Amino acid sequence: MSKVHVMDHPLITHKISIIRDKNTGPKEFRELVNEIATLMAYEVTRDLPLKEVEIETPLRKDRFKMISGKKIGIVPILRAGLGMLDGILKLMPAARVGHIGLYRDPDTLEAIEYYCKLPTDVEERELLVIDPMLATGNTALEAIKFIKARNPKNIKLMVLIAAPEGVEKIQRAHPDIDIWVGALDEKLNDHAYIVPGLGDAGDRLYGTK
Ligand code: URA
Repeated sequence: MSKVHVMDHPLITHKISIIRDKNTGPKEFRELVNEIATLMAYEVTRDLPLKEVEIETPLRKDRFKMISGKKIGIVPILRAGLGMLDGILKLMPAARVGHIGLYRDPDTLEAIEYYCKLPTDVEERELLVIDPMLATGNTALEAIKFIKARNPKNIKLMVLIAAPEGVEKIQRAHPDIDIWVGALDEKLNDHAYIVPGLGDAGDRLYGTK
């Protein structure tokens, strides 16, 4: 079974509380989503392998550790996942970025991929799939299915707020994928919104409601 890492850093918890507030406007919301994504990316990258390199300080040559050039890709799920992207790129500017978009067919309720562009060398990359909200888990589940079909080396999922239902669905369907969660909320309501949550993350990011 995959691991679920629920963040307990006070800065992350504090900033998530601010974006929950319905009076937080799109500008501050966007800034905070990026800041939270940066802080969470710090935790997600904790296991990056290091290699020894020789560096000359002003005092002497010595061997020091640096990240061993692991190939990373970031894949925002459109559209709300885009709100987290810049915050992560700040820490990992060399990471390549893929995009995936899905919509639900109103008749069959099947998730249909309408856009997917991943780095050409995806088979050599470890991917971080990002979306602010993990609610029913249906979108992430399907996105991961499509992405897995392109054979990346590994996938991690990072979300700001999750409902227990969504976490469970991903764990069951994709037991190989670890999940990083900024805050684990109580439940879903009848409209599949996370409660207490923050409302519609896409609308709050882009001011579309
Ligand atoms: N998507 C959102 O943006 N918010 C929710 O609460 C659930 C799904």
